[in-house]
Amino acid sequence: MKVAVFGLGYVGSVTAACLAAAGHDVWGVDVDTAKVDPITQGHSPVVEPGLDELVAEGATSGRLHATTDPRIALERADVSLICVGTPSTPAGSTDLTYIKRAVRDIAEAAQTVVRPASGFHSIVVRSTVPPGTVDEIVEKVLADVPPPEGLTFGTAMCPEFLREGSGLADFYAPPFVVVGTRNPKVGTALTDLFSFLGTEVEVVDVRTAEALKYACNAFHATKVSFANEMGRIFRHFGVDSREVMKIFVQDTSLNISPYYLKPGFAFGGSCLPKDLRSVLHLARMNDTELPLLAGTLATNERSVRDVVDRVIAGPGREIALLGLSFKHATDDLRESPNVELAERLIGKGYNLRIYDAIVNPTRLVGANLRHVQSKLPHLQRVLTDDPTAALAGADLAIVSATDTAAINALLEAPPARTIDLIGRLGADVEALPGYEGVGW
Ligand SMILES: NC(=O)c1ccc[n+]([C@@H]2O[C@H](COP(=O)([O-])OP(=O)(O)OC[C@H]3O[C@@H](n4cnc5c(N)ncnc54)[C@H](O)[C@@H]3O)[C@@H](O)[C@H]2O)c1
Repeated sequence: MKVAVFGLGYVGSVTAACLAAAGHDVWGVDVDTAKVDPITQGHSPVVEPGLDELVAEGATSGRLHATTDPRIALERADVSLICVGTPSTPAGSTDLTYIKRAVRDIAEAAQTVVRPASGFHSIVVRSTVPPGTVDEIVEKVLADVPPPEGLTFGTAMCPEFLREGSGLADFYAPPFVVVGTRNPKVGTALTDLFSFLGTEVEVVDVRTAEALKYACNAFHATKVSFANEMGRIFRHFGVDSREVMKIFVQDTSLNISPYYLKPGFAFGGSCLPKDLRSVLHLARMNDTELPLLAGTLATNERSVRDVVDRVIAGPGREIALLGLSFKHATDDLRESPNVELAERLIGKGYNLRIYDAIVNPTRLVGANLRHVQSKLPHLQRVLTDDPTAALAGADLAIVSATDTAAINALLEAPPARTIDLIGRLGADVEALPGYEGVGW
């Protein structure tokens, strides 16, 4: 394929050289001659292990070129990959000036150059951009400068996951190749372009692909800070946190795993809130700040408040709460965020009826009983073991129960509004009018 790569910094130069090495005809474009000239002379414009050799190979083979003129690069090109910078503004927002400029350069160059034989050109963002950029910024520029007769543009987001210092190795072994597009032709073009990687191309919604890159980097940053906070607190107790974390990562069922990584409602139960508070107390006693863990408690509280705010923002005062214990298949109500939610809504004057498949107030004992007595003394009055009775006359259902009785009752008599706290209620529930996911 003929590929134009816009922006020849770390991402663009690695991408251009690797695509050329895979046999594609690659033209790199940069507004900066300090990036273009080295490539023309067979050198890497950035310091990246192995890249100098790969650029030299590409220049010698005649498959890798560079120019400041987008028209030369666009001539008969099938794909444009946009790898320009997306720096932070002083306020922290993403500066999309270079993205807009590159898209405009592509659209304007396409007016005069020879079209690809297919009559189709894919414009693909590889830079990291906020969700909505392709739909709202890229498409708008293209609407301002529409393609000439006989040429169609298709757009996509294809995030790049390479890290500086291991850029080539990362490029050849990406964790995934994700293409966000609603144009099947772009999906096919990128599947062909990256077929040499041997990694299946996953075609997703554009905004999913845009958000994915931020999710990855936010998680990586959180991991570093988490490990650092573990070190910061436990060194006061003579603990070698390297040893702790070395063993910690061996748990691939709960620690380094998909577990605890599904968006949904607040965490709770008899251990997580208690032990997190304990670590934060140890930190205070040692004059140590753990902003990430303190923020974790704060964001958990925010999860409850967010649902209360959403309930208040809507109409109706009759609520069916389906599911009460902190997780499925337990009757443990200690620090259940659902109990907290129920209590706040009752406190605000809402009429609640609560269904839970397992929780039976007459059988509660010990800590559970004490928790109910202090947190929800009126549980007995509002609890029912019949989901249909809980839903009767409800304006709103707040659902975390997944048992068949609850789902069937909801499908049979759905209230005007359903708030799903867990995202596992099934397609039928999600198709109900008035359905809202808590975070989707
Ligand atoms: N650096 C990384 O490790 C990495 C990894 C993954 C993703 N990303 C993302 O990829 C994007 C690029 O990052 P980078 O580190 O390669 O940036 P960079 O600053 O090294 O390079 C960007 C290049 O784009 C050029 N440019 C600006 N406007 C242009 C235009 N209109 N036409 C052609 N070229 C133009 C600049 O001159 C510069 O050479 C960013 O969004 C970044 O967040 C970076």
